[in-house]
Amino acid sequence: MSKQASAWTRRDFVKAVGAGVVVPLAAYDASARAVPGTNPVRAWGPTVDDRKLKIGVIGCGGRGTGSAIQALRADSNTVLWAMGDVLPDRLAGSLKGITDELGDAAASRVDVPEDRRFLGFDSYQKVIDSGVDVVLLTTYPAFRPLHLKAAVEAGKHCFAEKPVAVDAPGVRSVLESTALAKKKNLGLVVGFCWRYNDGMRGVYEQVNGGALGEITSVYTNYLTGTLAKRPRQPEWSDLEFQLRNWWHFTWISGDHIVEQAVHSIDRLMWATGDRLPLRVVCLGGRAARSGPEHGHVFDHFSAIYEYEGGMRTFHSCRQMDGCPSDNTDYIYGTRGSAVVNGWVPTFSVRDVGGKEVWKYSGRTDRDMYQTEHDEFFASIRAGTPINDGQRGANSTMMAVMARMAAYTGQTVSWERAMNSKEELVPASLAFGDMPVPPVPVPGVTKFL
Ligand SMILES: NC(=O)c1ccc[n+]([C@@H]2O[C@H](COP(=O)([O-])OP(=O)(O)OC[C@H]3O[C@@H](n4cnc5c(N)ncnc54)[C@H](O)[C@@H]3O)[C@@H](O)[C@H]2O)c1
Repeated sequence: MSKQASAWTRRDFVKAVGAGVVVPLAAYDASARAVPGTNPVRAWGPTVDDRKLKIGVIGCGGRGTGSAIQALRADSNTVLWAMGDVLPDRLAGSLKGITDELGDAAASRVDVPEDRRFLGFDSYQKVIDSGVDVVLLTTYPAFRPLHLKAAVEAGKHCFAEKPVAVDAPGVRSVLESTALAKKKNLGLVVGFCWRYNDGMRGVYEQVNGGALGEITSVYTNYLTGTLAKRPRQPEWSDLEFQLRNWWHFTWISGDHIVEQAVHSIDRLMWATGDRLPLRVVCLGGRAARSGPEHGHVFDHFSAIYEYEGGMRTFHSCRQMDGCPSDNTDYIYGTRGSAVVNGWVPTFSVRDVGGKEVWKYSGRTDRDMYQTEHDEFFASIRAGTPINDGQRGANSTMMAVMARMAAYTGQTVSWERAMNSKEELVPASLAFGDMPVPPVPVPGVTKFL
């Protein structure tokens, strides 16, 4: 895998941010209008909103740390103002990571005294109420709808990591918050970061612009190894054990098709011009996972979406060790096909005979996570904030409906999935006992 590709692998990215590899902010200077290298601070022209923007982070893990640094880099008139988490060590580690990364500039760009470091399941509200202008919602997916609702109601611009929910009630709540954000002219950028990648934008512009003719089929995959496992410590309650191994519990992550492979489902959506399917059939199961740290999630899914007019699209994902990894999109149309891969940058269009007729030749030096924040802050400054909440909710729902179909063994229509009453996230949480649900069994597990 290329250096660039490995930087885009999510767990590597998380580690790299902590180690200060991905985002070289050491030379960052609050007063500078530009920083040497590939990550310039935006030099603003006349602006609608030129206030100092105070940033709050809710969920201080890998992406909380990374997106805080990216937000500070995106705009020289921002300050990190408040942080919230449920786990004290995560908040402390994140603040240290950000401060170390900023070096001397931290003195003027990080202003998070102890009384603006909030802990607990209500820390999100305390961050929101601390006087911030922009919040970065980077907790586990389960909490995104609640945090987004509170932030939008309080009038904050939001960056919300993907996926935006784990179930249909969550997606419906996000759609309501999206509409309210639009009404209030608030920014809402969802972390489907490949939509901010230059090469992807180049090739999908070709696809959406008709270079392949009419799209007849799309196949995307997300095949990777297992994620980290954190063995239970004697002092941990059930809930803390699950939170620290969150990607293995459906109520927290949505399962890996929702939490991780949703990136590739979002690209499948992109290839079709964001069409919604009529229904999905999805096969899945748990063949190679074992041990309590692996919770109750599946380790493979294979979804078939059907559309008005009969078109079908396909998505497969797997988290198993000892199997090859891949993350490719294959898009077929009446006049040709496209092959797209961000890990091993491949952005090309072929004719029906398989001959390459277009290849991306634009810039490759920008980090998509940084571009996402650059464009987010630029849009706030311009008074025309980006709001991609609807698209983010639809892509999340595509993944949720496939999980529903796989767990139950049923064909699930878009309408039925959207109206599902299954609420995975408990209304209130406290550190203590929390039994693990059984592994779903297709044909037995009920659709709710
Ligand atoms: N766009 C990408 O490429 C990308 C990459 C990695 C992760 N993500 C997404 O970002 C989100 C976070 O992932 P991560 O890898 O940073 O996880 P992480 O475990 O490193 O960090 C999450 C943090 O949120 C905290 N948290 C959880 N619930 C909370 C709550 N209710 N209130 C306050 N804090 C809470 C946790 O304690 C933890 O510190 C996930 O939705 C994930 O899917 C996106």
